[in-house]
Amino acid sequence: MNTLNNKTVIITGGNSGIGYATAQEMKARGANVIITGRNQAAVTKAASELGVNGLVADQGDLKAIDKLVADVKAQHGNVDVLFINAGIGAFLPLHVADEAHFDSIMNVNFKGAYFTLNKFLPILNEGASVIFLSSVSATTGMPGSSVYSASKAALNSLVKVASSELAAKKIRVNAVSPGPIQTPIFGKMGMDEATQQGMAETFSNRVPLKRMGQAHEVAKLVTFLAGSDAQFITGADYVVDGGVGVNALMG
Ligand SMILES: NC(=O)c1ccc[n+]([C@@H]2O[C@H](COP(=O)([O-])OP(=O)(O)OC[C@H]3O[C@@H](n4cnc5c(N)ncnc54)[C@H](OP(=O)(O)O)[C@@H]3O)[C@@H](O)[C@H]2O)c1
Repeated sequence: MNTLNNKTVIITGGNSGIGYATAQEMKARGANVIITGRNQAAVTKAASELGVNGLVADQGDLKAIDKLVADVKAQHGNVDVLFINAGIGAFLPLHVADEAHFDSIMNVNFKGAYFTLNKFLPILNEGASVIFLSSVSATTGMPGSSVYSASKAALNSLVKVASSELAAKKIRVNAVSPGPIQTPIFGKMGMDEATQQGMAETFSNRVPLKRMGQAHEVAKLVTFLAGSDAQFITGADYVVDGGVGVNALMG
């Protein structure tokens, strides 16, 4: 069993969806879990439901990341697992996208994720595991996803460089790339119920396994990469997508 006993784990964006499910999974494996989020009430509620620690830190705000690192260091010491999961989704076709759209996504999904790793480095233990939540969007061409997909492709690039730079400290860095997963993220994009339902049906039809994934199915993969069963795995990107990346020409 991939135990995480006595491991200190940070999960950004842990109050909802994939982060929440991963907090549940890692706590069950014995980890000391700290979730973060941007909304105090949501973080407090989730932390209390999960029986884990919660800290508020906006991943799009570098000063907030500095404070998060200082708080974690003071309250929990060094970190063994850093799951950089917080992210937002917003989709606009190229001819409509503007600077505000670009900056809002990049600030959280790439710049914030980049500086989360950068600023946590001094308190990562030798042998730590870092996991970035990327997406199959990084390697596909869904209309409207130009900025979102680029933010995730940038993470995949960072995983390669960081894994080689950090190998000397035995720190492993990997990405997990889900296909469509049922989480609250779609409700946060301003779509009404009917549109969300229609999108879920479209996604399910395109996935060879004919359904969307569940957050706990991503959490299992992240938890595997966090633990010692994955100790020879670094610089890799693992898809968990029901086969959507196969892109079969027929069938
Ligand atoms: N669901 C999918 O189909 C899918 C597929 C591929 C990749 N992903 C990626 O998976 C990750 C998790 O998404 P999810 O589907 O689980 O969505 P979710 O349920 O909305 O969870 C996202 C989490 O990130 C938090 N967050 C957003 N902006 C933040 C910020 N500026 N600072 C700190 N926390 C912030 C959210 O807080 P609030 O609750 O306050 O919004 C929430 O806790 C994201 O990086 C997303 O891009 C999702």
